[in-house]
Amino acid sequence: MKHTEVFQPFNIIVFGGDGDLAFRKIYPALFHRDQDGQFLCPYNIVSITRRNPNELNFNSQLVHFLNESKEKETSTQDIHTFAEKVKLIQIVDASPENFSELVDYLTGFSEYQNIYYFSTPSTAFGPIAKTLKKVGLIRESSKVVLEKPLGYSLESSYEINKEITQAFDDHQIYRIDHYLGKETVQNLMVLRFANNLFERAWDSEHIDNIQITVAETLGVEKRAAYYDNSGALLDMVQNHLLQLLCLVAMEPPHELGADEVRIEKLKVLRALRPITRKTVQQDTVKGQYTRGKIQEEEVQSYLEDIEKFGSKTETFVAIKTYIDNWRWKDVPFYLRTGKRMVKKYSEIVINFKEVRHNIFPSKEKLNNNKLIIRLQPEERIELIQMTKIPGPGGYRYKPIALKLDYIDSFKERFPEAYERLIIDVIRGNQTLFMSQDELQVAWTWIESITSNWKATNQPNILYEAGTWGPGDDVLDDDCSWITKSWRE
Ligand code: BG6
Repeated sequence: MKHTEVFQPFNIIVFGGDGDLAFRKIYPALFHRDQDGQFLCPYNIVSITRRNPNELNFNSQLVHFLNESKEKETSTQDIHTFAEKVKLIQIVDASPENFSELVDYLTGFSEYQNIYYFSTPSTAFGPIAKTLKKVGLIRESSKVVLEKPLGYSLESSYEINKEITQAFDDHQIYRIDHYLGKETVQNLMVLRFANNLFERAWDSEHIDNIQITVAETLGVEKRAAYYDNSGALLDMVQNHLLQLLCLVAMEPPHELGADEVRIEKLKVLRALRPITRKTVQQDTVKGQYTRGKIQEEEVQSYLEDIEKFGSKTETFVAIKTYIDNWRWKDVPFYLRTGKRMVKKYSEIVINFKEVRHNIFPSKEKLNNNKLIIRLQPEERIELIQMTKIPGPGGYRYKPIALKLDYIDSFKERFPEAYERLIIDVIRGNQTLFMSQDELQVAWTWIESITSNWKATNQPNILYEAGTWGPGDDVLDDDCSWITKSWRE
């Protein structure tokens, strides 16, 4: 694609610049946008590390990760040229005297917009923001990108926000949720609001239930310390799954502006029915993986992975919830996510209701229509509809999928979620970023679960790695919705 939009020159300054996320996602995203010719303006990348640069081997690590993300036509020379462009600065802690090298460097580019990317633990966000302000590095054109997790509770997220907003105005803050940058997630809006067909049937009169599933084969990898403090609920549901739910369930905004979309998402979150002490045991299930096999390979249990044998952190969670508003009255939303599942896939399934009356003589069951929005690994939309089996023999029918495979329909490469989101930050478009209000309301709902898990001492149900999570054999009857409504 030929790009014509010219951005204001920028410096992107990555705090936590030698972290996993920076290497795997942030630098490759910038590299691919550069390769694609989208940076028609001058720019600089600064990586901030607490460690001694001489001990980091930064350049070769960067080259390694760029190579991992490279595409066929990328040359080794391009990778090296890009890697050379990244400037490394050590800042051991957030005291102002440690920022002098950064101040000197950025002063040389005073016409550029400064984009501060906070990819550190969120406890560091406040102190860094405060120092940036103190040393005069925040201007009207500056922006800050905040990586999740934004706290561990409603209260801590509130505190972080308070500290950040003492340095940055709301229009400068970009709270990233990379699920919102995924191509198919964005297509959800087009699917819903550009097709009369679907929107007409998008309510409790026509829809029986909605499932949102994010299954991963990965375990906790090198993130044991972080993950053991979060668990599946905070790591995945509080942000990614709730954001997907918002896009599926929100009312059409009157136009596609950041405020308009955020207001509609906020209304959905406000209408989410809280989990109570009475409903927590039948409407939520938490689990933890034990040893098992993924694609023929033996994998360890969660406790072995994190080397902490008393951990009660959940690696699987399933929740049945409702949105108490006019459109979604009594329609269950099933949210599920887990690590070490049989395979990696994320999808949203809209299960429509059965037809009102079966006119066909055989009275064989007519399957419900399903709209399946597959987010990954393949990006695909399927509409399952009943079709007559051709030939004589009366009306025999079976469900057939009408498929729209993105890769087949659009030949070009889809940018990764981070590429799109970083471009939106440079451009100054907040539509795909969460507002603080959304975050607060999401936390309030999440705390209705965590507080009742605590109050009822809800145990983890163990599941073998390489399965779909806790099965019927270990679940109470009340919770059989988990396995019954699982599509695969
Ligand atoms: C991250 C979580 O936000 O999302 C990880 O912290 C998870 O635990 C990842 O693996 C999943 O992202 P994706 O894009 O691979 O589905």
